Amino acid sequence: MSRGLFVTLEGLDGSGKTTQLKRLAIWMEKRGIEPVVTRQPGGTSTGDRIRALLLDSRSAGLAPMTEMALMFADRAQAIAEVIEPALAGGKTVLCDRFTDSTEAYQGGGRALGSQLVLEMHRLICGGLQPDLTVLLLPSLDRSLERARRRNDRVAEKDGPDESRFEREQDAFYRRVWEKYREIARRDTERVVAVEGDLSIDDVHEQIVEAVSERLVMAHSR
Ligand code: TMP
Repeated sequence: MSRGLFVTLEGLDGSGKTTQLKRLAIWMEKRGIEPVVTRQPGGTSTGDRIRALLLDSRSAGLAPMTEMALMFADRAQAIAEVIEPALAGGKTVLCDRFTDSTEAYQGGGRALGSQLVLEMHRLICGGLQPDLTVLLLPSLDRSLERARRRNDRVAEKDGPDESRFEREQDAFYRRVWEKYREIARRDTERVVAVEGDLSIDDVHEQIVEAVSERLVMAHSR
């Protein structure tokens, strides 16, 4: 059996990533592909507990290194429990965030740098790389505006407290945004950046185009 396709979605908070992931999963299902949809942090029962710890605003004062180590602890569990078994079984995996998020948020946002994150990735995740990463990158102004809007919404929301990152300032999100652009410029084979302020339908079209191309390539392997 041939190995499944590993697709990740990336972008800043409020970039529309989760909406697009749902639409992509529906598009695949209509074509007879049953993707395994997961997210990071989270996606396993241990990961959900790590997620709660990471995103709860009561975890104020978490050192950047602790934050990064927890992201990789979550990822190691997700790879062992969900991602690797699915890929080995020939399934397509759609993952909401992966190591690019750690590089952008902890490497860029928290200024730990790319080298450390990539070294951790090599040690903990082995050679596992997505076959395709869709990066949603609206303009910086639009991204900051959306992150701010999410701040306000989060302040009013009931349910689990997941607001720790949303409380970050513009300067933090600017560094995340810049690191994402750097990743897109570096990994041109793997990363398809959907840039600019497009409609939900236009973004979906671009994603479908990129995914279709990879599916054809995977079938001809
Ligand atoms: P989500 O809202 O897209 O589920 O992501 C949760 C938050 O966690 C989001 O603000 C980005 C952040 N994050 C990191 O800082 N580093 C990581 O490695 C991952 C996966 C997420």
